[in-house]
Amino acid sequence: MSKNILLIGTHWGDEGKGKIVDVLADNAIGCVRFQGGHNAGHTLVIDGETTILHLIPSGILHDNVKSIIGNGVVVSLDALLQEIDDLESKNIILDNKLFISELCHLILPSHKNLDIAKEEKLGKSSIGTTGRGIGPSYEDKVARRGIRLIDFRNTKILKDKISNIMDYHNFLLKNYYNQPIVDVEKTFESLVDNYEKIKKFVIDIKPLLLNLTNSSNVLFEGAQGAMLDIDHGTYPYVTSSNTTFAGLLSGTGINVNRINYSLGIMKAYTTRVGNGPFPSELLNEIGDNLANWGGEVGATTGRARRCGWLDIKVLKNSIELNSINGIALTKIDVLDKFEKIKICIDYDMDDNYTARNIKFMEINGWMKSTVGVTKFNNLPKNAQKYVELIESLSERPIDLISTGPSRNDIIEIKDIFV
Ligand code: IMP
Repeated sequence: MSKNILLIGTHWGDEGKGKIVDVLADNAIGCVRFQGGHNAGHTLVIDGETTILHLIPSGILHDNVKSIIGNGVVVSLDALLQEIDDLESKNIILDNKLFISELCHLILPSHKNLDIAKEEKLGKSSIGTTGRGIGPSYEDKVARRGIRLIDFRNTKILKDKISNIMDYHNFLLKNYYNQPIVDVEKTFESLVDNYEKIKKFVIDIKPLLLNLTNSSNVLFEGAQGAMLDIDHGTYPYVTSSNTTFAGLLSGTGINVNRINYSLGIMKAYTTRVGNGPFPSELLNEIGDNLANWGGEVGATTGRARRCGWLDIKVLKNSIELNSINGIALTKIDVLDKFEKIKICIDYDMDDNYTARNIKFMEINGWMKSTVGVTKFNNLPKNAQKYVELIESLSERPIDLISTGPSRNDIIEIKDIFV
């Protein structure tokens, strides 16, 4: 029987999904992105070589895996071409391996300008977006004036659509944001040029998805994390897509019954990039140590990530939102040097998103290296206890533990394909 697995970040993104997808892709024939865009940053380290993916699914480094970009993803042609170039320069073949839904909406250059102008205008209350044009592109999708890849079939109609949408963007840029406008003719020409280069990857993904999910294991790779979901996250400090299970369904069009397992990807502590509530945040030396030892710098924007103890309340919410069956725990090695480790188990949130009555549990650290450990029994006893405590608090099994950045630094407790 084939097993189709959803992999979803349990908190605010950067949980290490890319690596887990890459590890599981050994046993898969398909890997699918279903929402977000090149705001994501998935870091893969293989034989010491680092590859950072933003838009292309993390299964791409495997020869036998078909990588699919679902209709829920917003695509910047510039970013896509850049990523294709990077992969091809590493001799990774994409023909017959990369497929992009013709229903994907575009991120236009003016979307990026609007994103940046909007954030600037918000000043202190800005969201802290990645500045990639994600929000404005989804806005246009919902407003029913977006441009889709399928529109390139008829360049005459496309030109009208681009002129219309960009007239609107330029009106906003000039009159509302007081910013320079974007040249419509040049944009159109460059889009058509760029499309020609990626056209061979653009298809109706539905038959391929049905075929793959019928025949063997397919991974559905979430981007960002559950608390950045436009509906269920810490609104307005969220991204503009459904980062939760629901996003998989709308972002690919496949039937929910085809998904056999939902794997929550969770870091052994919590991080967040950008603004917004973060109850277990540590604005002290411990937070600094987590950031330094964990290399907590955004893979997309290079921004420092905010750090705090693991937030179990968020995890429980995420389990419900995403029907999570099991957990992949990442970066446990970052906790190796802490004498005491805390877990945030509860708090109240007021109307201003200020957390009150924050409750923690504390355990003794293990003060030994866990880097590269591949068997649960070889973890220090207190690290084992930490894992078991998370399992008992969340009532979910921990199926995998990542013990370092490399593909091989992994404890596979359970074969989730069985
Ligand atoms: P946007 O997705 O660029 O609109 O940014 C909205 C919020 O989501 C900001 O707080 C970003 O920092 C955050 N965000 C977007 N993509 C990621 C990601 O891949 N990892 C972590 N945070 C992200």
